[in-house]
Amino acid sequence: MENYIDSAVAQFKTLLTEQIARQQKMENDTAYTDYKKLDKIVIGICGGDGIGPIISRESDRLLQFILKDEIASGKVELKTIEGLTIENRIAQNKAIPDDVLAEIKSCNVILKAPTTTLKGGSLESANVAMRRELDLYANVRPVCVPEENIDWIFFRENTEGEYVLGSRGVEIPDTLAFDFKVTTNAGTKRIAKAAFEYARNNGKTKVAIVTKANIMKKTDGKFSQICHEVAKDYPEIEIDEWYIDIMTANLINPAIRSQFQVVLLPNLYGDIITDEAAQIQGGVGTAGSANIGDVYAMFEPIHGSAPRMIEAGIGEYANPTSIFKATEMLLRHIGFNDKADKLNEALNICTETEKRVVVTGDTDGATCKEFGDYIMETIEKL
Ligand code: IPM
Ligand code: MG
Repeated sequence: MENYIDSAVAQFKTLLTEQIARQQKMENDTAYTDYKKLDKIVIGICGGDGIGPIISRESDRLLQFILKDEIASGKVELKTIEGLTIENRIAQNKAIPDDVLAEIKSCNVILKAPTTTLKGGSLESANVAMRRELDLYANVRPVCVPEENIDWIFFRENTEGEYVLGSRGVEIPDTLAFDFKVTTNAGTKRIAKAAFEYARNNGKTKVAIVTKANIMKKTDGKFSQICHEVAKDYPEIEIDEWYIDIMTANLINPAIRSQFQVVLLPNLYGDIITDEAAQIQGGVGTAGSANIGDVYAMFEPIHGSAPRMIEAGIGEYANPTSIFKATEMLLRHIGFNDKADKLNEALNICTETEKRVVVTGDTDGATCKEFGDYIMETIEKL
């Protein structure tokens, strides 16, 4: 037992030292990409696993279609990034193999299809690794249900909390297991600023801060305190604060849910509640997500790789709506707002009003490709 304790203490010292260094690096970092100033924007497309390659193929076609002129003139380059598959990751025992990471870093923005995340073991999630490697600290997830007056946007902290050391916990066999949760000043400040800036620049009047600071007193307590400090620079924005448990109830309470606008929260709560929110919108297959950093950004569906669909042989019937929404967010992020607006309009027509081609996720519905064609035909008519 003494040996376990000694090695756990040594490990904690290493983790603490690393996290202090990460916080200091964040405080000093000034690197920033201004997409307007780039001669060429390189968009990397990672196919992922399971239904990933099927839905990302449609987004690839969609981007080639929407950005035809920009690709022809050399203003935009689409780069296919191979190798972010569970087989390759297991074979190399790396969350993101080095050559794949180098390819990813040679792009400016990434469109990433779902990658399989293993339960337990030591192989880290590719999502989590990419968010860390590219320092994508803001996970931005919009959810809209116009007929219910729901227009939410979640700002989920994306690089710390329960995730940052999630694969580096301590275990004493047959005795106990310990994981670590980390909240830093700089890490909280930057996500809070992102949420408040968004509110200010997009006509939002309210930000809800969501934690469990009554129980996670140190980490969530810090998150809450720093968010309140940042809020002082945005006096025109009203803030309210909720605990995550009651917030999950609020989202299904029709009497109050439409009052929420921007929701700011730590990593794991943001993970959980955005699936709930997406379900209210029509399912996780309908929601896109942006992972924004100062230098890079990555856009992805919020759902997983749906291995069950592949096992059942119905992968071609996967719904690409979520990756199309991610594509829309990508276009907006790199400054093609008019193109993003068109895609958004086409998505509304195809999934809300006209609905001529409907994907159900099963053989009774349209295929992913048929829906991709439908979106492109609709854009052409706009
Ligand atoms: C998400 C996903 C990921 C997460 C998984 C796949 C690692 O659920 O993007 O919400 O937990 O962040
Ligand atoms: Mg999730």
